[in-house]
Amino acid sequence: MKYVIGVDLGTSAVKILLVNQNGSVVQEISKSYPLYQEKVGYSEQDPNDWVEQTIAGISELVAAFKGNPEDIEGLSFSGQMHGLVLLDEDNQVLRNAILWNDTRTTQECSQIYEKVGKDRLLEITKNPALEGFTLPKILWVKKHEPHIFNQARVFVLPKDYVRYRLTGELHMDYSDAAGTLLLNIAKKSWSREICEKLEINPEICPPLVQSDDEVGTVGKQIAEVTGLNVKTKVFAGGADNACGAIGSGILEDGQTLASTGTSGVVLSYEASSAKDFGGKVHYFNHAAPDVFYTMGVTLAAGYSLSWFKETFAKDISFEELLADVDTVSVGANGLIFTPYVVGERTPHVDANIRGSFIGMDAAHERKHFTRAVLEGITFSLNESIEIFRENGKKINTVVSIGGGAKNETWLQIQADIFNANVVKMESEQGPGMGAAMLAAVGCGWYPSLKECAVEFLKEEKVYSPNPENVAKYKELFKLYKEVYSKTNQLNERLMKYRK
Ligand code: XUL
Repeated sequence: MKYVIGVDLGTSAVKILLVNQNGSVVQEISKSYPLYQEKVGYSEQDPNDWVEQTIAGISELVAAFKGNPEDIEGLSFSGQMHGLVLLDEDNQVLRNAILWNDTRTTQECSQIYEKVGKDRLLEITKNPALEGFTLPKILWVKKHEPHIFNQARVFVLPKDYVRYRLTGELHMDYSDAAGTLLLNIAKKSWSREICEKLEINPEICPPLVQSDDEVGTVGKQIAEVTGLNVKTKVFAGGADNACGAIGSGILEDGQTLASTGTSGVVLSYEASSAKDFGGKVHYFNHAAPDVFYTMGVTLAAGYSLSWFKETFAKDISFEELLADVDTVSVGANGLIFTPYVVGERTPHVDANIRGSFIGMDAAHERKHFTRAVLEGITFSLNESIEIFRENGKKINTVVSIGGGAKNETWLQIQADIFNANVVKMESEQGPGMGAAMLAAVGCGWYPSLKECAVEFLKEEKVYSPNPENVAKYKELFKLYKEVYSKTNQLNERLMKYRK
């Protein structure tokens, strides 16, 4: 039996899967690392933490592996998107990485619009200037830390840096490059025009590759430490959302994914780059060759729930926290939560908005708040589904992965709020499985990702919308949407009190 490894470099942890030729996960391991939030709106990580924990995780996985490590043929990556890793001429890290959920760059976004023009930016990159994307972060370092920026020879994204440390080779794949705001999405090339208009040397952009391209093998030293064979092939990998889509079989028109990791996304397959969503949703290159996807992002999806648990129910597990949400009826007994605890992206590009519980009543218990959090996260995802539907997309079935797929009641809430069938996969590994599938195709086990998906991915259960709940949630969704416009001014005025 042969094996591949899928490394999913997330925001809270790196998850590593060992997958066999039948698509079964035979071993998995997760290693966490810290997040540095020095000021409100800041979110950073130390790239060396990613490398150390990935190497430690692979080493443990290989040590516990009962077979012959030589049978582990390939390895690939899924990575948190947009994070800026700046390297000097010796490829040394110049500062902590500024992550996708860091919102310090509002001024840089305005600068991009001024210099490039909104329409031209949309024409080239298919996306608006958002705080989370990489280009505004580059401009922030250039302005605020010129002594660091002047030493930068190249920038990469989180998983690219880890891959570099494993192989000695530096690249970026199209699906991740799409989230930098420097890539011409349709032409699959770096935009010299954007670089020139913003006075950035185009040479800082790394060489581009396809997600299933073999970019090297595991270096000798890494092989010695991890127990992997030096011949283990390393494939480029892709953005976590693109890999999540592959690992959930989103490889054809009409297929949609709802993923609740730290962020939450609703993602829909696109065969071409020709559609126009006016920048309301993100439009990125898929990690499958020459196709695309559109996506809306809730900045704090799983993060809202973990924030809630950490703050109000620290001593119990997630299972305990969610154990009685099914005893609370639709609408959490008149309580609405908006998940804006770190700002929002879709549909409100707003770094200053913050969350609310509306309708708190003395009769509410913790379980009502918990249900309101689940519903609020799902309402936020539904705002992206609404944009897709308004643009003519048919969304009848949604594959759910991540935290949202781990709880039966939440899966049913998704079916009722999305008014669509919600599918739970048998092995619901999302991005890590997508990375493993890229390695499997790269190793030549299958001619295409679609053929690999037929073998690797199986549905476990479908949750159908309950018409009575659908009707109630339609009403509640209208109320939910009003909360933004009724709280954004208040939040602007509260800003000066945030540290
Ligand atoms: C997507 C985004 C997040 C990160 C999370 O645009 O910012 O989903 O990829 O890892």
